[in-house]
Amino acid sequence: MSNQEIFIPQPTADGSFTFFSEEFDELFHSHYGAYQESIHKFVVPTQIEVQAQKSVIRILDICYGLGYNTAAALQTIWSINPDCYIEIIALELNSAVPKAAISNQLFNHWNSAKIDILDILIRISEHHYLEAKNIKANLLLGDARNTIQQVITSGFQADAIFLDPFSPPQCPQLWTIEFMQLVSQCLSLTGRLATYSCAASVRTALLTSGLEIGSTPPVGRKAPGTIAIYPQAEGAILPRLSTSELEHLQTRAAIPYRDSQLCDSAAVILERRKQEQQYSNLEPTSHWRKRWDRAHKYNSLSKE
Ligand SMILES: C[S@@+](CC[C@H](N)C(=O)[O-])C[C@H]1O[C@@H](n2cnc3c(N)ncnc32)[C@H](O)[C@@H]1O
Repeated sequence: MSNQEIFIPQPTADGSFTFFSEEFDELFHSHYGAYQESIHKFVVPTQIEVQAQKSVIRILDICYGLGYNTAAALQTIWSINPDCYIEIIALELNSAVPKAAISNQLFNHWNSAKIDILDILIRISEHHYLEAKNIKANLLLGDARNTIQQVITSGFQADAIFLDPFSPPQCPQLWTIEFMQLVSQCLSLTGRLATYSCAASVRTALLTSGLEIGSTPPVGRKAPGTIAIYPQAEGAILPRLSTSELEHLQTRAAIPYRDSQLCDSAAVILERRKQEQQYSNLEPTSHWRKRWDRAHKYNSLSKE
């Protein structure tokens, strides 16, 4: 990614601002709201409010970007338990993104009398490291396929993982089976991983990593997100996948992205999956969708 890219704030429906990435041809957040997305796709599904009762919380923020997910988590935790010690590891390719969020003053209203979230975000964006009374944060710059290895080596076990890359067609590198296997090694046995994506390929990669998955409620658009935990997580019950989501996982859309050496380009990973889909015995997703729509039309007509 070019560090030269200029990021211009774009308003979203909840009044918060995001950027557009020319390189990935995608907004960093959805139109309905950057802040709302952080809260409803990441903070709520990982049960940060419940976890805030503990004395220490460990968070792995994959694709730190502007820093919304980290900021929303800090705000939520300390509004419940100001003494909670938070340890954050964040992964990001482009140091210009968090810097641009600060220089464009996107978080200036996040200051409160008690907690200076803005000061924390400034220090993370400038020094990539911060240690204070109740927080330790490390921003690891580089391709997350490499930096995740440092996280594993350090033995970091996250209570919450925020998985927030650009969409699979734009950034397949961070949705592969191989990357997800590394990510799952950083999740504590009682931790929760959340992502905004409900793509069947992403869900297959999570399942293949030994995780159990559930849907998170849709916010601002029709599609749900995904939450993942270890099956052995004590007392953890996930919202069930619907019949349609389960059937979707039996179609070609569920064929995952693969990157066995964790170094292929997006184009190579996309092409590899296209080939695998072409030769697959699984039902084409468009056939299934037509079948599904016909059956549901028939069912609703027969109920009238
Ligand atoms: C959808 S945005 C994340 C938004 C962010 N979570 C926030 O709250 O502002 C995706 C981010 O992934 C970063 N990225 C893209 N490819 C990456 C890679 N291979 N490794 C690490 N980060 C990457 C981009 O620079 C971008 O900041």
